[in-house]
Amino acid sequence: MRILSIETSCDETAVSIIEAQGDIHSPTYRILGNALFSQIDIHTEYGGVFPMLAKREHVKNLVPLLSQANKLAKEALEGSEYNTGIPELTPEKRTLITEILHREEGLSEQIFNFLDTQELLEVDAVAVTEGPGLEPALWVGVSFAKALSIIFDKPLIPVNHMEGHIVSVLMSDGVEKKDHQISPQVSFPALSLLISGGHTELVLSEDWHQYKIIGQTVDDAVGEAFDKVARLLDLPYPGGPKISKLAAESRLHKLKEKAHNWSLPRPMMHSKDFNFSFSGLKTAVLYAVQEKTKSGPLSDDDKKTLSEEFENAVTEVLVHKTKKVIDEYQCNTLIVGGGVIANTYIRSTLKDMIQEHAPHTTLLIPSIDLTTDNSVMIGIAGYLRYISHDPKILQPKDVLSLTAKGNLSL
Ligand code: KG4
Ligand code: ZN
Repeated sequence: MRILSIETSCDETAVSIIEAQGDIHSPTYRILGNALFSQIDIHTEYGGVFPMLAKREHVKNLVPLLSQANKLAKEALEGSEYNTGIPELTPEKRTLITEILHREEGLSEQIFNFLDTQELLEVDAVAVTEGPGLEPALWVGVSFAKALSIIFDKPLIPVNHMEGHIVSVLMSDGVEKKDHQISPQVSFPALSLLISGGHTELVLSEDWHQYKIIGQTVDDAVGEAFDKVARLLDLPYPGGPKISKLAAESRLHKLKEKAHNWSLPRPMMHSKDFNFSFSGLKTAVLYAVQEKTKSGPLSDDDKKTLSEEFENAVTEVLVHKTKKVIDEYQCNTLIVGGGVIANTYIRSTLKDMIQEHAPHTTLLIPSIDLTTDNSVMIGIAGYLRYISHDPKILQPKDVLSLTAKGNLSL
């Protein structure tokens, strides 16, 4: 089946069209069209994501991205048979769509103009992130998806963004079969380590769609800690990639051993539970910076070595707790998802840990381009929900009831 999916939970606006087949334990998929716009440069100026600004950008970009994904998908299907066109857009439907989009200024006009000039590839369902995330940002995607469900006269599948990060590993190391990718097998029990700007969670699953959060951060999320520490070091938003780069330079040239002996805490490393805490670590960086800057501004080497020590501290805690859960619950699979797993040091340390201590556990990590927020993962999650006949799926006549849920949990 073909699914059009939408993601607007934070600062990425994304629309994709995927084709997926197979049952829940052996899905295959093909990405027909994937269009994404990252608002990072816009938010960098303000040092973080501003929900109302994010919302405005989503409103501006959704239709152009739909147009791009639609064009790419038709190109991908060239040579095979496919249908375009939508059921008649009656005046009643137009009124309803205008109503649904009345808070998203100009969006209904953009959609109607688009439909007047371009042919939409037929899809079987629409999937959208309903939460968690920034509520004003989520609403734009949710309203847009409702409108599309009515336009196509096809079901709407609400998707949890964190489930999207989990299933993004189904697109790792895909084996190609004709033009479809075969997803890797996930053997249960599976543990998901979810590390992003808003979440740090250890989630245990006995099967797909069964989630038990057994550990989480009691304060800041890992990505948030990276972003806050970056600010302390005068590095622009988002801090994760910048810190990671400086830390790598420090490691390469062994700067920390040579000169700077920072020593940051490993918070909650040996606590009996599986929870995390990163706010104290950030404060420890603040104190270290304050102490150092008494004798002048931070040097480049200070920033590099402090980044390395911070990254080491975060990684040690994450890897230690993850190992503890794997041991205790005999997990057959470790899934890692969320923007922070773009971090090469955390990736490689996790790989080493699995190789050394849990060789029978399969480690699944999404390819780098699918680690940060995207709509392909929402499409795959939507597909798995659809074939499981999820009761939350809405028929076009019922879509009005769907709301954005900023605090949705797994
Ligand atoms: O999953 P994501 O794209 O958005 C949320 O759902 O939050 O994650 C974004 C987070 C940001 O905090 C960003 O700094 C962090 O992921 N991040 C990284 C790296 N790349 C992105 N953190 C550490 N190292 C990286 N290379
Ligand atoms: Zn995310």
